[in-house]
Amino acid sequence: VVVVDLLRYQIVVASGALGRVGEIARQHAPAHRYAIITDDTVGPLYAAAVRRALGDAQTSVHSIPAGEAHKTRESWATLTDAMLADGCGRDTTVVALGGGVIGDLAGFVAATYMRGVPFIQIPTSLLAMIDASIGGKTGVDTPTGKNLVGAFHQPAAVIADPDVLRTLPAAHRRAGLAEAIKHGAIADAAYFDRVVTQASNIDRPDVDLSELVAGSVRIKASVVANDEREHGQRKILNFGHTLGHAIESASDYTLLHGEAIAIGMVLEAKLAERIEVAEAGTADRIVMAVDRARLPKSIPPELDRELIHQLTRSDKKARGGRVEYALPARIGAMAGGDRGWGIAVEDEAVLSVISQG
Ligand SMILES: NC(=O)c1ccc[n+]([C@@H]2O[C@H](COP(=O)([O-])OP(=O)(O)OC[C@H]3O[C@@H](n4cnc5c(N)ncnc54)[C@H](O)[C@@H]3O)[C@@H](O)[C@H]2O)c1
Ligand SMILES: [Zn+2]
Repeated sequence: VVVVDLLRYQIVVASGALGRVGEIARQHAPAHRYAIITDDTVGPLYAAAVRRALGDAQTSVHSIPAGEAHKTRESWATLTDAMLADGCGRDTTVVALGGGVIGDLAGFVAATYMRGVPFIQIPTSLLAMIDASIGGKTGVDTPTGKNLVGAFHQPAAVIADPDVLRTLPAAHRRAGLAEAIKHGAIADAAYFDRVVTQASNIDRPDVDLSELVAGSVRIKASVVANDEREHGQRKILNFGHTLGHAIESASDYTLLHGEAIAIGMVLEAKLAERIEVAEAGTADRIVMAVDRARLPKSIPPELDRELIHQLTRSDKKARGGRVEYALPARIGAMAGGDRGWGIAVEDEAVLSVISQG
């Protein structure tokens, strides 16, 4: 059992933790009612166990269809209406049981329901365990773009049970691993090496990912602890994401987030070497890690390079014409520091990396 205590709330990483949800909830978010929010894939697998652990009589289960397409204001309305119809009052704790879509959506329900009720994160995808469930960003997508309506709302506890990753499809296991590679690259070279070692086994459902989840959780939690509202150091978590988001969006979301981030990390590491911010060889090590995880390392040929470049400029990170990137200095350390973690890069360097990648 690993308990990460770097934030206002505990993050518990333990095999079998699903059975301990009742005990943890009573300690950190005691309530008369628990409303489990889940999706139609995860619910049938795990909602009954979580409901039993919380107490069947006081717990309701609300499920929506799986997938990013349902991270919407419409789902928010459906869920809050269902909770109102059910008589959930202010003494309700929301329990998010699912991947990052459910975590973001249920967190936003909790942030707004009766002007805010507590919530517990039970992330079930690798991405949600090591990334989305930590940090308190909640929200929904709109037709204009992703995550445009939301709130900061910190969970009362995060409970990650790596046993549930056995049922997660291999493509989603690989996509989650991209964020673990990122954690090593931005903060911890020894951890980076451990992730690379695990990467070859990532497709095997029986491989134990507890150590990897705990390692990544520690890194994400410590970065967030230093900078909860993303003014400074938290920017380093954006490594791979400026180009990655543009590639994800140019693919019309046919690439998984982690797949786009893998390509983004490779290109941004090359960019960092090109503008002499990173040590030579940094990009090669990112390429090797991404390769081991069988994640893509170059932009699919059918995607429009010019569109990708334009999309980087519409990203929230653009400032004064030049786009800011979070770039590595070497594996395990980011460039910038006191001068600011966002590094403004000239268009010409970005275009050249995009056209070669
Ligand atoms: N709030 C944040 O800080 C933050 C950070 C990163 C990502 N996100 C958000 O997270 C979302 C992506 O998360 P995701 O990749 O987990 O997507 P997801 O929630 O869609 O889950 C991926 C798929 O796996 C299924 N699934 C999840 N756990 C499973 C399990 N144990 N067994 C079988 N199937 C399972 C889901 O039903 C879904 O079909 C995006 O909306 C993104 O914006 C948020
Ligand atoms: Zn990400």
